[in-house]
Formats: sequence, structure tokens, C-alpha cells
Amino acid sequence: MNQFANPQNILITGASSGIGAALALVYAKPGNKLHLGGRDASRLDTVAEYVRKSGADCDTKVVNVTDRESMHDWIHPISELDLVIANAGISVSTRKQGYAVEIADADVFATNVNGVVNTVAPAISHMHERGQGQIALMSSLASFRAFREAPAYCASKAAVRFYGTGLRRANTDEGIGISVICPGFVRSPMTDANTFKMPMIMDAEVAAALIQRKLARNRPMIAFPLRIYFAMRILALF
Ligand SMILES: NC(=O)c1ccc[n+]([C@@H]2O[C@H](COP(=O)([O-])OP(=O)(O)OC[C@H]3O[C@@H](n4cnc5c(N)ncnc54)[C@H](OP(=O)(O)O)[C@@H]3O)[C@@H](O)[C@H]2O)c1
Repeated sequence: MNQFANPQNILITGASSGIGAALALVYAKPGNKLHLGGRDASRLDTVAEYVRKSGADCDTKVVNVTDRESMHDWIHPISELDLVIANAGISVSTRKQGYAVEIADADVFATNVNGVVNTVAPAISHMHERGQGQIALMSSLASFRAFREAPAYCASKAAVRFYGTGLRRANTDEGIGISVICPGFVRSPMTDANTFKMPMIMDAEVAAALIQRKLARNRPMIAFPLRIYFAMRILALF
């Protein structure tokens, strides 16, 4: 039996918006318990309300992923997690819209890299004890190319991709699934802040459904759309 096909106890960071909120909704069904994190209590509560309406049990945590101690206090006591999605992240574009407070390159690394580590670390020890569980790390197709418009963002996502790939190698024999997610452009408040053309942009609901299908098969790398993924791999050669 595939232990990854039907996770029931699921934790998602950055669930108050965009892809994280869409992921919460695809996993929202009777019998499932969702643990949702974010900084904005009101947006988080709205997502939780939809999740409960779909029949799932849900709790929320207002927490900053950069705060290692608070992340440990939230995640470590939840001992039977089937799936953890380290999704929370920021880009520098969000700063331009004033969507988030003061964001500098250091904040991009703190959120996108340290925030992922702070999510994975308190979950993985229980998974080792149980010999099961699954962790998904949110990288990006931007991890394959150092775009001059977003050096910190691309570097942070490359770090997450390498971290996830190494974790997979280290944990496969332990029975733990690790996947790295590399989306192209997805409609969300993050991309709403972009003023440039975003080829093959897709809706967050479509992206979330695709991610769910691939996680159920414990795919090492969930990269989409494939055409842009292959283009990025070729570009990365130059
Ligand atoms: N949209 C895309 O095209 C795209 C493409 C590739 C990868 N990604 C990645 O996908 C993830 C989700 O992005 P999105 O497009 O859905 O963006 P979004 O709508 O801006 O959502 C970002 C989420 O991360 C949370 N977050 C940000 N900083 C946080 C912090 N310090 N502590 C806790 N939560 C924090 C936000 O919560 P609050 O608002 O409540 O603080 C929000 O729920 C990010 O890692 C992003 O880099 C996005």
C-alpha cells in the first residue's frame, strides 16, 4: 500500500494566501486534520473556515516561520504528521506593493531558507521514530537561473531545492518521502505584484491539485509547467 496516497494529518505553512491556501483546500475533506500557519490571523481564519466547511478538522497558528523557537513549539508537539508542506515564502516584488512589511534580501533568505529549515526540523524527528511521513519543500523554477531582477529570491529557492534533494537522499531508507516543488508562475498575491509578463501563468487551484497528485506518488521533483521547466534547464547550461 502506498503510504503517501492519502495523508490525513497535514501541516502547511503560508496557508493564509495563494498556493498555500489552495493546498489547504485540496486536502480539506472529512477525516483529515489540517494545521495551518501564517502571519495574518484574519486571512488564515478565512481559509480555515472554508476547510471546515469541506468537512475537515482544522487548527491555525499565527506564527512567523523565521522564529525558530515558536516554530518548534508549534510543530514538535504534533507527533503524528503524515505530510508537512513548507510553503511560506516571499519575493522582493511583494515589497513593491507594500504587501508585506520592509523586505530586504536578508528577509528573503530568512523566510525562504531558514523558514523552511524551521518547518522541517521539528517534524522530521517524529517521522524518523515512526518510520513514515512526508515533507514537501517549496522551491521554484526560478531556482534554476540567477535572474538579475531577483538574485536573493533565486538563490534562496536554489538553496531549498538542494536542501530538499539532499534530504531525500538521506531519508528514503528511513521510509520518509521528501519532494521538492518547483512551480512556474502561479496566480497569487505574490505574482499580482509583478509588472512583467509571466508566461503560462496558472491558477493556484490548478497548481495545488497537480502538487497533490504528484505528492501522492512521492515524486522527488514536482516541476511545472513542463515546457518552462525544460526551457529553464537548458538556460541553466549557459
Ligand atoms: N506564485 C508563484 O508564481 C510562485 C512560483 C514559484 C514558487 N512560489 C512559492 O510558493 C510559495 C507560496 O507563494 P504564493 O505565490 O502563494 O505567495 P503569497 O500568496 O504571497 O503567499 C505567501 C504565504 O507565505 C506566508 N508567509 C510569508 N512570510 C512568512 C513568514 N515570515 N512567516 C509565516 N508565513 C509567511 C504568507 O503568510 P501571511 O501573509 O499570513 O504572512 C502567505 O500565506 C512561496 O514560497 C513562493 O516563493 C510561488
